[in-house]
Amino acid sequence: MPQLEIDRPLQDFFQKSSIALALAHADADNHLALVNEPFCKLTGYDSSDVVGRNCRMLQTSPKGTHAPNDEARDKIHEFLEADGPATVRTPIVNFRKDDQPFVNLLFMSKLKAGSGQVRYILASQFDVSRAHAHLLQAYDLELGDTLAKIKPLLDDHNIMIEGTLATIANSTTTIAQAKLTLAELEQNSPY
Ligand SMILES: Cc1cc2nc3c(=O)[nH]c(=O)nc-3n(C[C@H](O)[C@H](O)[C@H](O)COP(=O)(O)O)c2cc1C
Repeated sequence: MPQLEIDRPLQDFFQKSSIALALAHADADNHLALVNEPFCKLTGYDSSDVVGRNCRMLQTSPKGTHAPNDEARDKIHEFLEADGPATVRTPIVNFRKDDQPFVNLLFMSKLKAGSGQVRYILASQFDVSRAHAHLLQAYDLELGDTLAKIKPLLDDHNIMIEGTLATIANSTTTIAQAKLTLAELEQNSPY
């Protein structure tokens, strides 16, 4: 199997991207293989803190506060099923390394081999808790562009990405929902 995670063009693409990106192995616990600088800036974690771990670590603050995120995790579980949807987008409460909570608008897409087997999962994260709608629109455009540009890089590995821009347009309600989630969190917690 080609070692996609070490593949130089893909790494370069990740590092040049202005939006947060993460790539995980499609193994039993979806260990992270690669994250980029905007991901590190958003979460406060270095690549060495997170590579090899499951991204659920962001749902618990370093001080131990845990956000259950039941609804978001149900959606992610459904997506991760072999016959689940090609993409998922959900707001999910996360914590930065400095303990600050934020609402992460998480997008995930499956990268499949020609055989149909899922090889990797690509994700992108965006902080919608304090962002204005126009910033989310700009992010969506960038995400759509990223998905389009990543396709030819994966072709060499005979791997296809399933997500397209058309599947991710639901910004206004999502941002409103996220703001409510954060307001509730801030009301009920000591932050
Ligand atoms: C590539 C990738 C990136 C992910 N990024 C995040 C993230 O930024 N924040 C988050 O809370 N969960 C993220 N997840 C989801 C969790 O890793 C996990 O799949 C989710 O919490 C559901 O599983 P669990 O109920 O076993 O924790 C990501 C998953 C993958 C595969």
